[in-house]
Amino acid sequence: MVKCVLLLLCCISAVNIRTVISTTASDWKFFFDSIFVTYNKNVLPKVNQSELLTINVGYTLNAIKSFDEVSGVMETVGYLTVSWTNELLQWDEKPVGTSDYIRNILIPISMMWYPPITLQNSVTSLKGLGTLYEKLDSSYTGLTTWKPPVILASSCSVDTTNFPWDEQACNLTFVAWDYKATEVLLAAASPTVDMTEYSENQVWVINETTTVAWTDADSSYVTFTIKLKRLPVWFVINIIAPLVLLSFLNLFVFLTPLEEGRVGYAMGAFLTFSVYLEIIGDNIPPVSEPMSNLSIYVVLQVIVSGITSFISVFTVRIYTRDNDIPVPVWMSYFIGIIACHVCVREEEREIKKLFEEKNAKSVEPGTGFPDLPKRSMTVLRIESIKVEELSPLIKFGVPNVKWTPLDAEKPVREIECCIPQPYITWINVAKVIDYFLFLGSIAVQMVMFVLFMFPMINQYDGSMV
Ligand SMILES: *[C@@H]1O[C@H](CO)[C@@H](O)[C@H](O)[C@H]1NC(C)=O
Ligand SMILES: *[C@@H]1O[C@H](CO)[C@@H](O)[C@H](O)[C@H]1NC(C)=O
Ligand SMILES: *[C@@H]1O[C@H](CO)[C@@H](O)[C@H](O)[C@H]1NC(C)=O
Repeated sequence: MVKCVLLLLCCISAVNIRTVISTTASDWKFFFDSIFVTYNKNVLPKVNQSELLTINVGYTLNAIKSFDEVSGVMETVGYLTVSWTNELLQWDEKPVGTSDYIRNILIPISMMWYPPITLQNSVTSLKGLGTLYEKLDSSYTGLTTWKPPVILASSCSVDTTNFPWDEQACNLTFVAWDYKATEVLLAAASPTVDMTEYSENQVWVINETTTVAWTDADSSYVTFTIKLKRLPVWFVINIIAPLVLLSFLNLFVFLTPLEEGRVGYAMGAFLTFSVYLEIIGDNIPPVSEPMSNLSIYVVLQVIVSGITSFISVFTVRIYTRDNDIPVPVWMSYFIGIIACHVCVREEEREIKKLFEEKNAKSVEPGTGFPDLPKRSMTVLRIESIKVEELSPLIKFGVPNVKWTPLDAEKPVREIECCIPQPYITWINVAKVIDYFLFLGSIAVQMVMFVLFMFPMINQYDGSMV
């Protein structure tokens, strides 16, 4: 008997009485005696044990503690609001024998039945939620509310295809452990997660939340989905902008003068991109499917700059090739035709100047222009139509190639119609190759940008928040 009283006192001290106006301790003792002593917390709180007990589960998110996209773990701080009707613990609003209303009481969780709820996609432990220090809020109608505070580490499958413009959907799936879906059914208390107490995260904004209750053959579940959107500005400034700038620099390898160390320049770009690969690895999970567009972009940049370095070695070799080795005829024609913008103009100007300096009249048949430098022209071709238009007196040409009579009266201006074919040196060849490699680089960079950068940037909805 003494034992029983001690236990009771112990329980009394642990049980708070709320919404009580003038109930005395003896009232309460009486009340407790009448309802609690007969209560057994091991019994499912249903009068008819074959009926389904519905439990409403809501989640209030206070903060996202961390989100590790590399390991796919989201840590959240919040609490659940779990409520059900306890048919075995109901009383009159003003219990018989007490002097005032007793509508709600807070009861230590250890004295009551409560649902064994577990976070199913937890990465730390699968134990039931709740600690012995929590209390249940019971109302005289039987409505019982439990608000276990929870710091959860849940797994989340991360999709960084559009990093840093990515969106992640992370689930918190709670399951009613031990009970079948026909015994205890979890229901969504509200269609969304309660965000009223949320404090903003610096990296992620919450775009949307949903709550879905579902069952499978065994158990009943409720899933809270939190859709997170990354704030991209930091990554744009620190990763994307330098990367784009660097790809831009990579374009100009073939426009770099040889003296400036072209191969070194190309190698520099190659190394910098390799470093970027490392930096990006810190933020992007090492998954193969789906792979991040940014990783693909950087890997392609590494490859392109590798190839660029390789090719630039050969362009340097062409530049420095000894001019005693003649440029093959097919090559000089080819270069001369496609590359008029690169080298012919220069030669043309030079030749015109020579013609102006030198009075064309003084050119004697058979002598040509002996003081023209060899590299300026070996072949001076006159367009065939123009040749026919020229008077038969006009004598014009190049030593040992072609001679037409020169009209002493014709002014030098006439010669402007003539298109000289340049003497192609290895430097000309190298310049033409550089020009085309430059155009090629632009094309490659454009294609890569459109394929990989553009879809990411397209995700951006203009918000800076
Ligand atoms: C208990 O509930 C089941 C299912 O609803 C019903 O079939 C059964 O008749 C109920 N039993 C009593 C005693 O009410
Ligand atoms: C998250 O939960 C929703 C709703 O139950 C489901 O459709 C989706 O597949 C889940 N996602 C993951 C990654 O489990
Ligand atoms: C959430 O994201 C979707 C798709 O990006 C967008 O259409 C929607 O407006 C966003 N909602 C909010 C509340 O930002």
